[in-house]
Amino acid sequence: MVCPGRSLVKTILVLIVSVLGTSLAQAAPIVIKFSHVVAPNTPKGIAALEFKRLAEMRTKGRVRVDIYPNASLYKDKDELEALQLGAVQMLAPSLAKFGQLGLKDYEVFDLPYIFPSEKVLHEVTQGEIGHALLDQLSSRGILGLAFWDNGFKVMSSNSPLRLPSDLKNKRMRIQPSRTLEAQMNELGAISVPLAFSDVYPALQSGLVDGTENPPSNFYTQRMQEVQKYVAVTNHGYLGYAVIVNKKFWTSLPGDLRVILEQCIADATQKNNDEAAKLNKAALDAIRKSPGVQVVDLTPQERETWRKALAPVQVKMEGRIDRNLIEQIKSLSENR
Ligand code: LMR
Repeated sequence: MVCPGRSLVKTILVLIVSVLGTSLAQAAPIVIKFSHVVAPNTPKGIAALEFKRLAEMRTKGRVRVDIYPNASLYKDKDELEALQLGAVQMLAPSLAKFGQLGLKDYEVFDLPYIFPSEKVLHEVTQGEIGHALLDQLSSRGILGLAFWDNGFKVMSSNSPLRLPSDLKNKRMRIQPSRTLEAQMNELGAISVPLAFSDVYPALQSGLVDGTENPPSNFYTQRMQEVQKYVAVTNHGYLGYAVIVNKKFWTSLPGDLRVILEQCIADATQKNNDEAAKLNKAALDAIRKSPGVQVVDLTPQERETWRKALAPVQVKMEGRIDRNLIEQIKSLSENR
């Protein structure tokens, strides 16, 4: 005998389960996976953590940001592919890595001595030039939301290093940028493009003799343990574009997007306030490290580096938009 009461109870149970399921699904946070290749206590690492803190607090848990530092999820090139495929939603690759996407103008940031000061650099990244560069990303399925600083680079080697000629025939690790390759060519060095996470082992095994990076990256990867000389050349800049998967970002509820964009603006401010301090502290710590000698240059020696690297700009005019180089130079001259 069929009992009508039982089927009613079953229907009610199904309804309860489905209502509960829907509300649980609604309560599940939107997850932003943010992958990067440096240590958490670097300018980028700290800004990423600040973004996470602000985003989770201001969206009251509707968004969760999972950060994967130190290339724990993806290495350099893989992370760009993962972003385009939607396997991660957010990255902040260094500007030297965008040439691989065919966005050659990004290599303007790699030109030696292009920025006479942090002030001019910020006029570029926070002004019209910066906006135009971020807009170029859209055609790659990516949205560019901000520029984050790291800082100016030091050069390092396992043999005495003071002048450009000291790098002749040395095997130097570079980021995958044609402009950085041209820079090393100009010094008579051999460029070895490697992912960031491969640099320490490559220096340790002698696969490469030297490298370049801002002190914060150098120190947090313990490169001072496997390099003997660090010359404070400040010859070039390393910074980042904060990027998101375009499809993911534009499909977010509008109110969330507004909140998240403000969180990025605030994390950018924190990054730009802290980056120079972190690099100074890292350079001081490298100075105190055993087994490594930090070489400070005289004004004449600095001029020798500048002259040695001057031809790079002219050689790269076929690759990087000449007008862009001129615009940056005229900003510098008006200082
Ligand atoms: C490098 O590869 O040297 C840097 O781009 C790493 C980073 O993200 O700062």
